[in-house]
Amino acid sequence: MLNREEKEFESEGLLEQAAARPSDSQGSYTLLRSGLFISIFLNIAFASFTIWHCRGSHSSYDRGFATDLGAARGAIELIQHDFGGGVELDEDGNFLTDSRGSEYVGPPSPAVDQAWDYLERGMNIDLHGQEGAEVQTFRWPETGASFTGLEVFHSLHCLNKLRQALYPDAYGHAFSESHGPMRKDHIGHCLNHLRQSIQCHSDLTPMEWKRVGNKLILSTKTPHTCRDFNKIHQWALGRMTDYNGLPTVMNGTLEIVA
Ligand SMILES: *[C@@H]1O[C@H](CO)[C@@H](O)[C@H](O)[C@H]1NC(C)=O
Repeated sequence: MLNREEKEFESEGLLEQAAARPSDSQGSYTLLRSGLFISIFLNIAFASFTIWHCRGSHSSYDRGFATDLGAARGAIELIQHDFGGGVELDEDGNFLTDSRGSEYVGPPSPAVDQAWDYLERGMNIDLHGQEGAEVQTFRWPETGASFTGLEVFHSLHCLNKLRQALYPDAYGHAFSESHGPMRKDHIGHCLNHLRQSIQCHSDLTPMEWKRVGNKLILSTKTPHTCRDFNKIHQWALGRMTDYNGLPTVMNGTLEIVA
């Protein structure tokens, strides 16, 4: 069934209608204009949302994700880094290892321990005021600061634990507690943690195979796009937890078990 207006529209020519019933024409013009305004508004709103979603919410590797610590996002800088420490094959068929990163590997020594200690420095940090406001974490009763840290340091700590587990003679004591978090299944925790971290970041850099004589060898010296760890490390080093200012930790009232 057609309503009254539609019937009238059918029976009248457009010009005739416009001339005869100016108020109706005004009405459709207003409607058209409102529609246009609504459409423009929605377009602007959608564009703003898209821009906010891409930039404001920091949903990218270089700007940071919603789950990244907001206060640390400013420390993100992308770099291209050729991975070091790869195994290479010379024309005579000898295997060589690229020496970059050698300070972190090899038999236990004070120098290797120091290299890892430095990587782990800045794992525990205190965030004061606005910097710590967003973090759901423990706050020190003395200072009100948020006790936190960046996941990258926890992963490095776990990798160091696995390294130590390879040398029980040198580091056996680190795993000898029967009840603390350093008991043997800490190794399982670290394996699973690092597995998830690697899967989570899913590096899509292609593997490059090189032919040397009749051998195909993986060349790992390829450029990767990375967050500059040194920048992030400096950011964390500037916020390290100062336990001396925390009597509850110093006098044993609170014990950090990880
Ligand atoms: C440890 O220090 C806290 C903070 O100053 C204090 O409240 C607590 O009584 C102290 N506990 C001991 C056992 O000294």
